Amino acid sequence: MSGHGDPVPMTARRGPPLKGTARIPGDKSISHRSLILGALSVGETRITGLLEGQDVLDTASAMAAFGAEVTQHGPGEWSVHGVGVGGFGEPDDVIDCGNSGTGVRLIMGAMATTPITVTFTGDASLRGRPMARVTDPLALFGTRSVGRAGGRLPMTLVGAAEPLPVRYTLPVPSAQVKSAVLLAGLNAPGETVVIEAEATRDHTERMLAGFGAEISTQVTAEGRVITLVGRPELRPQAIAVPRDPSSAAFPVCAALITEGSDVLVPNIGLNPTRAGLFQTLREMGANLTYENEREEGGEPVADLRARFSPEMKGIEVPPERAASMIDEYPILSLVAACAEGRTEMRGVRELRVKESDRIAAMADGLRACGVTVEDGPDWWSVEGRGPGGVPGGATCATHLDHRIAMSFLCLGLASKKPVSVDDAGPIATSFPVFEPLMRALGAHLDRTNRG
Ligand code: S3P
Repeated sequence: MSGHGDPVPMTARRGPPLKGTARIPGDKSISHRSLILGALSVGETRITGLLEGQDVLDTASAMAAFGAEVTQHGPGEWSVHGVGVGGFGEPDDVIDCGNSGTGVRLIMGAMATTPITVTFTGDASLRGRPMARVTDPLALFGTRSVGRAGGRLPMTLVGAAEPLPVRYTLPVPSAQVKSAVLLAGLNAPGETVVIEAEATRDHTERMLAGFGAEISTQVTAEGRVITLVGRPELRPQAIAVPRDPSSAAFPVCAALITEGSDVLVPNIGLNPTRAGLFQTLREMGANLTYENEREEGGEPVADLRARFSPEMKGIEVPPERAASMIDEYPILSLVAACAEGRTEMRGVRELRVKESDRIAAMADGLRACGVTVEDGPDWWSVEGRGPGGVPGGATCATHLDHRIAMSFLCLGLASKKPVSVDDAGPIATSFPVFEPLMRALGAHLDRTNRG
């Protein structure tokens, strides 16, 4: 959906402690991949717990446009009748991926080695994001592309008729780029190899193996070397999508900074390539515990319990941890604002090319709320004001970015004066039940602008 309705201003203010159980929807990364890999299999993939956020719904529509039969059976319950590797048909219209970088980049990879021509677009945020990081490696397979200046959408890709396998070293730590290359490699003969110096989320590798592809990862001096054998027949799967740790981050962090809070967030995946935020919070002194630790579907899972943590201290977040918490820096920065001392976040250049420039968006809003922030091209720092010490009283611009909107709303629950956002609408892309879920915990959110 490239359109976005009227802005939805929203205000958060201090209220009672947050209490209760927060049931988080399905993981966004795994939801996209379930639909795409289902569409590339022959037969019926059944999915439960699919995230029904707009980003994922846009990917579902795209899979239908390529010829897969995609059906919703109930809340979170979907099936995909796939067309097989190399079986995508040419869509008869533009593929609109809305706000979703993951959607567009993975789908580009999935069609790149099939001889069809596809034009992609998205909303104003997505049309501003770089696509050359995907089309450059896809060109090595023989895929042609033409887009706007700077490799921006709208963009047309012509899939390779006789694809060559590729060996590619990622120039940026990006699971989206890695996944695009692996998905393109599915329909190339021989071995496609992707090398990443820093480990990024590994859902594509795990799920490809689950769907029956021959894929292996060696850890070498160069980094992780991932080898995929092309032209497999992918076997349809029954997938139970785990709950999204990136969404869990919001009620967890809100509880840590809101006086008297005690919130349980059950069944959260703690895949090490995703769990960097929780480790960082614990190093800051957060009262965050893992209960009932177990394994589900090959992934470590626990119930998270977050209690108000007035003792938290600022830390230096190690740059090598960045990939495992890349979506969580906005919410971490406001926890840092409510801690004592300075928090430094380095090695985070990628934050500048997300749904918004997340360093700029958070720095502007935090400064407007009375917090001192410094920033450079690939780092930023936040001076903590201590528990309950953030003045607040501002309206923060969300720049079509769901995580910026949710972060400032969480800040408003603990700041002296309310905090407003100009537009909470984008929250529906990843966490459509954020507002009722937070209200059920006791959060004071209302649909006005009073910051
Ligand atoms: C994602 C990868 C990350 C992340 C995004 C989801 C994925 O992007 O920010 O929200 O599902 O592969 P990059 O690959 O650009 O770092």
